[in-house]
Amino acid sequence: MAERGFKTQEFYDRIADAHNVALNLNGYRGSVARYLKSIDPGIGPESYVLDAGSGTGIVTMGFYSAGFSPKRTITFDLSHNSLSLGRDQFRKDRNTPATKISPVQGNILKLPFAEGTFDLILSCGVLEYVPLDNGLSELARVLRPGGKLIFIPIKPSIVGAVLEFLYKFKKHPLPEVRRYAETYFRIVGHHKFRITETMGWSKVVFLLEKK
Ligand SMILES: C[S@@+](CC[C@H](N)C(=O)[O-])C[C@H]1O[C@@H](n2cnc3c(N)ncnc32)[C@H](O)[C@@H]1O
Repeated sequence: MAERGFKTQEFYDRIADAHNVALNLNGYRGSVARYLKSIDPGIGPESYVLDAGSGTGIVTMGFYSAGFSPKRTITFDLSHNSLSLGRDQFRKDRNTPATKISPVQGNILKLPFAEGTFDLILSCGVLEYVPLDNGLSELARVLRPGGKLIFIPIKPSIVGAVLEFLYKFKKHPLPEVRRYAETYFRIVGHHKFRITETMGWSKVVFLLEKK
């Protein structure tokens, strides 16, 4: 696992710039914002938010585009370069309060946070790099009871298969996603993006509430 983590970190450190350009073109930010506006993730001025596997922070930017204003957001990722590119990007974006966002580098399987720290966790495209049960149980550990996890896994699709090859991950079958999710969370929502949204070509959303 340590070896795989190192290779993944090296890979994303190398591609951070190009990957970020692609993400800014593909409309993920707008799709995340529209989805988040359609639900109540229970965020207030005292809330703590974690973007687990944030990469360069597109999901965090979508979150702020939806108008939320928590106390602090942590962007968490293996890749230093992705985190620092994200920080620069937040500073240039008028909808994203860079001073309220802290980047933390590390492995999602060993989050350096106490139990129940977060009110909301966003996680897109990262649990495909780790055993699903271990990843979900670690996210559940740092989420407070009743807190929400917005989990955006890769769905079976041609685009998903291409991404799997290009980005060197292994998607989890959706019945397994449901089964493991139900171990730690209640599944309170399931969202399919519109076919006109690029995000919908490869991803779906599970809205999970910590038991
Ligand atoms: C496909 S990118 C998704 C990034 C971002 N969530 C998004 O939607 O644009 C996957 C990210 O997961 C990170 N990652 C992979 N394995 C990880 C791990 N074990 N712990 C923390 N981050 C990890 C990579 O460094 C990369 O930034």
